[in-house]
Amino acid sequence: MCGIVGYIGTRQAGPLLIEGLRKLEYRGYDSAGIATVHDGAIEIRKDIGKIEAIEKKIGLSLAVGTIGIAHCRWATHGGVTQKNAHPHVSPKHQISLVHNGIIENFSELKKKLQSQGYAFQSETDTEVVAHLVDSLYAGSLKEAVQNAVVQLEGAYSLAVISAKEPGTLVATRNESPLIIGVGKGENFVASDVPAILAHTRKVVYLKNQEVVVLTATGVELFGKDGGKLKPETHTITWDEKKAEKGGYPHFMLKEIFEQPQVVTETIEGRIGEGRVTLEAAEQLGDVKRIIIVACGTSWHSGLIGEFMLEEVAKIPVEVEYASEFRYRDPIIEPGTLVLAISQSGETADTLAAMREAKKKGARVLAIVNALGSSIAREADSVIYTKAGPEIGVASTKAFVGQVIVLYLLTMFLGRKNGLLDEQQVRNRVRDLRLLPLQMQQILDEHDSVKTLAKKFAKKRNALYLGRGINYPIALEGALKLKEVSYVHAEGYPAAEMKHGPIALVDKEMPVVVVVTKDDRTYKKVLSNIQEVKARGGHIIAIASKGDTEIKRLANEVIYVPRNSYLLNPLLAVLPLQLLSYYAATARGFDPDKPKNLAKSVTVE
Ligand code: AGP
Repeated sequence: MCGIVGYIGTRQAGPLLIEGLRKLEYRGYDSAGIATVHDGAIEIRKDIGKIEAIEKKIGLSLAVGTIGIAHCRWATHGGVTQKNAHPHVSPKHQISLVHNGIIENFSELKKKLQSQGYAFQSETDTEVVAHLVDSLYAGSLKEAVQNAVVQLEGAYSLAVISAKEPGTLVATRNESPLIIGVGKGENFVASDVPAILAHTRKVVYLKNQEVVVLTATGVELFGKDGGKLKPETHTITWDEKKAEKGGYPHFMLKEIFEQPQVVTETIEGRIGEGRVTLEAAEQLGDVKRIIIVACGTSWHSGLIGEFMLEEVAKIPVEVEYASEFRYRDPIIEPGTLVLAISQSGETADTLAAMREAKKKGARVLAIVNALGSSIAREADSVIYTKAGPEIGVASTKAFVGQVIVLYLLTMFLGRKNGLLDEQQVRNRVRDLRLLPLQMQQILDEHDSVKTLAKKFAKKRNALYLGRGINYPIALEGALKLKEVSYVHAEGYPAAEMKHGPIALVDKEMPVVVVVTKDDRTYKKVLSNIQEVKARGGHIIAIASKGDTEIKRLANEVIYVPRNSYLLNPLLAVLPLQLLSYYAATARGFDPDKPKNLAKSVTVE
């Protein structure tokens, strides 16, 4: 996810663009840059690092001109380097652009442009778009952009300027967000509302494949077919603080609601025609055993990965707390793959465990969200969850991204080991593609969880139970509740209750049971629920839509749609994330900044 801002008007663009970019830094902070047009030339200033540091170093806001574009980057293609920072420029027609998204067919486009004599300075997909627009420029920037984007596959939002047309800023999008800010004698384009709210509350939400041409005094909108459209203006009523969170009160809630998109973006370009393409997995070699090392929520996603990999790829897996693994003098035989899972890519214990494993000769594959992070750099190969920056301390969307990557890796290895044929992969991909819609259905019904959370918030303790692949979800739900609402919660395998914890059960102890329908442990969990009921326990069940039996037993039921056994956990976890979030806010706490915690635990 990256941040884009554009300006055209009568004021100097530099200060306005950088002020707007600061409001979007939560979208990406690997590098930043600005391009303006003045005296018939493009001026570019860009570097790696956070905006403040770059501003001090090269004076981003000092770029001259009353038209410009600016960008803060969350690297996807190409490392975190000055050359890969945006904006990118095509010297031939002096065209410059910034981009948010992922161009899936950039390699073939790059080859074609190289054959036309274009030389590339960066490793990015964005520079390919700049040269493509350039190669199609024949006096109209708008037409060059229109003719270029029809050749693009994947997600993009683009803001484009040219030294040849200093009075025109062209922008367009497909899947990645972009809004137009309509000012008086000036106009803006941005990835998100906060960037322009200081100057105007009148916005136009660009739709997929629409192209907009901005001048200082005009906004012209064109449809996919090139026909002119009437821009639909909206007035923003949010205050600035709230706007940074896209209108959500907290980043945690915003990130919970981003999860359907995370599924879509994480699988984008990695599945097709009965095959899974995992760039980093190609060189994995023969995998005889997998050891997963991680901490916290990432450890929970590892537990789900164990079910997936053992069931489908028939590879023995063990999941270790990274902080324990590194002091255990582990046995690593040839053919052992160590999987390091980390959202931040900077967790000290996971980094140390990975180094220990490498010292003992293991191949290390990392599943990381933050590109260019230490774990990503030191692993032998890395697969990125494309969740975008996760700001809330409690991990939500990154967890979903991790489980999706584990599912893709499972299908890749299952296919490689000859245990999955093309049709079986297609069937599993079909289940995967169902997820975003099913997740959205749950999120659309979040008010019922909000009401339940208010009751929950008055409690001091809670038990979370699950069995089989739902046990890690019970653990994750308990961790979320603890982390943000400070209600003590324990996750337990449902069958373990009778070996001790059931002594705690009384009417004051809410017992959340993840009991989605399956033909493995569902009936057993119903018996575990009976045991709790018999002791006066208050049961809150996370159950599959259509399950009427659970209604007889549970005091409250939150229904989720049904997917496959291996993917149901990604549906069951959503109500538990929402429950913890609303319990925290009901208790008057800020879920984004829970006490005593940090987003990335870089200490041992
Ligand atoms: C999860 O909500 C917590 N913030 C914490 O347990 C976290 O998952 C853990 O610190 C691991 O972080 P990582 O994924 O960045 O390595």
